[in-house]
Amino acid sequence: MQKSVLKPILWSDEKLILLDQRVLPGSTSYLTATTMEEVIHAIREMAVRGAPAIAITGAFGIVLYLNGCSAKPSYSELNKKLTDLLDSRPTAVNLRLAIEEFLSRFPENSYSQATLSDLQKGAKEFALFMLKEDLDNNLTLSKHGLSLFPNSPSVLHIVTHCNTGALATAGHGTALGVIRSLRDAGHSVTVYADETRPYLQGARLTAWEMKEEGIPAFLITDNMVGWLMSTRNVDAVIVGADRIASNGDTANKIGTYPLAIVAKHHGVPFYVAATEKSLDFRISDGSQIPIEMRNGSEVTSFSFLKDENGKSLLNEGVIAPAGMEALNPSFDVTPASLISGIITERGIVSPVNESNLRNLFPKTARDR
Ligand code: MRU
Repeated sequence: MQKSVLKPILWSDEKLILLDQRVLPGSTSYLTATTMEEVIHAIREMAVRGAPAIAITGAFGIVLYLNGCSAKPSYSELNKKLTDLLDSRPTAVNLRLAIEEFLSRFPENSYSQATLSDLQKGAKEFALFMLKEDLDNNLTLSKHGLSLFPNSPSVLHIVTHCNTGALATAGHGTALGVIRSLRDAGHSVTVYADETRPYLQGARLTAWEMKEEGIPAFLITDNMVGWLMSTRNVDAVIVGADRIASNGDTANKIGTYPLAIVAKHHGVPFYVAATEKSLDFRISDGSQIPIEMRNGSEVTSFSFLKDENGKSLLNEGVIAPAGMEALNPSFDVTPASLISGIITERGIVSPVNESNLRNLFPKTARDR
């Protein structure tokens, strides 16, 4: 039975209200942001996360910044704020695109003609538009995803990684959106949700969304997938994206790349589900995608997940010797050659290569 999933981003009474994803699944609490600085903090600290949700939150951050101005900021003051926002998390391209799309509504050569009220109104319209557009695109891409599973209705076992659901977007989700739509279309879907070390988006968030929606799911640790594919039937892997280069190389949550290798070895189709907002045609391949490095404490213990009062949300689980250095790349890049298809709001890109991507997206904002 389908339940309504909590929305991660709400705009109410000129305030931004964010579901604090750090405290899920233990509790559902919201935090209110009234300034750009609070928005940047919420993105950096991952109270809100997932590439589309980060971009939409950033757009509302621009609204809050402009609403807090008593006089129109100079073009360079505005740009400085937008650069601070952009620096909050570097790998997903969605936030950069959102900032560029906002700026394209107020180009430098005509900026002097805009009043502060024009900027405030334009920013709010844009942020609200993004919220609606993302949900619409997720629903459309999910419909396209159904075409990959033509035997209907069927019993499907799908592996996913990280969290790409309603929590990571304006609603419905990308990879989890396809899974939701498969269930809604009558398929009997079972999800294998990768735990997604170290930040545990799979265990904390995807598992929670599946429970809320009543979609049968098993939580597995990331290193169980080889066993899973060699002993059980898996119909497909579906993951999201933080940035897709011109040739189809795709950055997504750390652990996606080894998952794709195991899927390839076992002949399991490996799909990426993403909207146009994840495409970056300005880079030729995945080697040019900046990979966010986060604090090693996320690897050496589980105690980095704290509530607003500093209390650990999980057992104080230190799992490494004091002083142990750890690497913590937050994303990896899956080469296009390992991706069976990219599910988008305009259809499926397969085989994954530059010419097929550009055929479907002949003119994107990234070409500017
Ligand atoms: O670090 P996160 O939780 O922001 O990483 C999220 C992911 O990697 C998602 O797969 C991606 O952003 C797509 S969300 C629709």
